[in-house]
Amino acid sequence: MPDRRERSLGDPVTFRRGPALQNRLFCSPMTTCQSHADGGMSDEELRWLGMRADGGFGLTMTSAAQVQEIGRGFPRQMAACSDVHLSGLAQLASVLRQAGTVSSLQLYHAGKRAVTSSGLSPVAPYADDEHRARALETGEVYRIVDDFVAAAVRAEKAGFDGVEIHGAHDYLLAQFFDGSRNHRADEFGGSFENRTRIHRLIIEGIRRSTRDDFQLGLRLSPDRRPGTLAETRLFAEQMMLSGEIDYLDMSLWNCFKMPEEDGFRHRPLVEWFAELPRGDCRLAVAGKINSAAIAYQCLELGVDFVAIGKSAILHHDFARSVIADPAFASVPLPVTRSYLATQGVGTAFADYLSTMWKSGLA
Ligand SMILES: Cc1cc2nc3c(=O)[nH]c(=O)nc-3n(C[C@H](O)[C@H](O)[C@H](O)COP(=O)(O)O)c2cc1C
Repeated sequence: MPDRRERSLGDPVTFRRGPALQNRLFCSPMTTCQSHADGGMSDEELRWLGMRADGGFGLTMTSAAQVQEIGRGFPRQMAACSDVHLSGLAQLASVLRQAGTVSSLQLYHAGKRAVTSSGLSPVAPYADDEHRARALETGEVYRIVDDFVAAAVRAEKAGFDGVEIHGAHDYLLAQFFDGSRNHRADEFGGSFENRTRIHRLIIEGIRRSTRDDFQLGLRLSPDRRPGTLAETRLFAEQMMLSGEIDYLDMSLWNCFKMPEEDGFRHRPLVEWFAELPRGDCRLAVAGKINSAAIAYQCLELGVDFVAIGKSAILHHDFARSVIADPAFASVPLPVTRSYLATQGVGTAFADYLSTMWKSGLA
């Protein structure tokens, strides 16, 4: 391994499968709520992601795309659940390819957190009164596995270089992972092995059904429930060493936050993942990386590439800027809507951001 202090954000990143990234910067998946009502591709979404690709990101990840109709977590979310979506996805893949970025479609199911229509209950590994969710039957879990695989095949047909499986943020796959709630009596609940079966079946299915160099990433996040950091590390290590995924994308919300769990409080979150053995799998981290300096700190800890969320909203060319200038830092909030418009943020996305960044939009 080269001296970590000599690593540059402008270095290429190679993978076991699929194309290399031109640099170590990755536009993190971000739901923008600006697809059409049926999840179809819109001009706003093409422009938003096209600008990130033009802005120099080595990898451009799409917004989370639902793999089942009942898996939609937000209105106007991108969808990959039917062939109806294929031509729009192909348009996006083509825009990204022409800009020279590696492209990936993020695949997800919201589970209990779905926004459903026609009085349908959301589905989850377990019944959940707060979300009016019903527990999935075993056969339905296998159907979800098939639908993740079908969406990945659609992404391949559309021309994407790969997909990322969204196993983070308490959406469906993370709901399966949750040992405090998932007490299912079938093969998808109870033990660690059973709670991670759905992830493994999806990954195996995608590997079987797509070409050999189709690039596959997995996103995980630790949450604050006791015991989850140790379990998340164990699963992260297993997956990285499995040879099945090409990169692990750890969504940490704040890479340098000290964990709250006993036994882990003395080192920042990023270090707990950067130190894991990973064979030839690559590791990315996300969470408050808003300057070249913080990105370099992650590289020095051994991370292979960094995912940029909010700073990629604020600067479509954040990647190019931090490579050119080691002192570059993102503008602070608040910003105006007209500033966001210059960065390719459409009206619907700005409306959504205004609910998230309560005082962030002037
Ligand atoms: C507007 C917005 C939408 C997001 N949507 C997604 C998503 O669709 N999928 C996902 O895995 N993470 C999503 N995230 C999380 C980001 O990918 C990223 O991990 C997180 O914002 C932390 O990085 P940051 O501090 O650089 O923003 C979203 C974040 C924001 C701000």
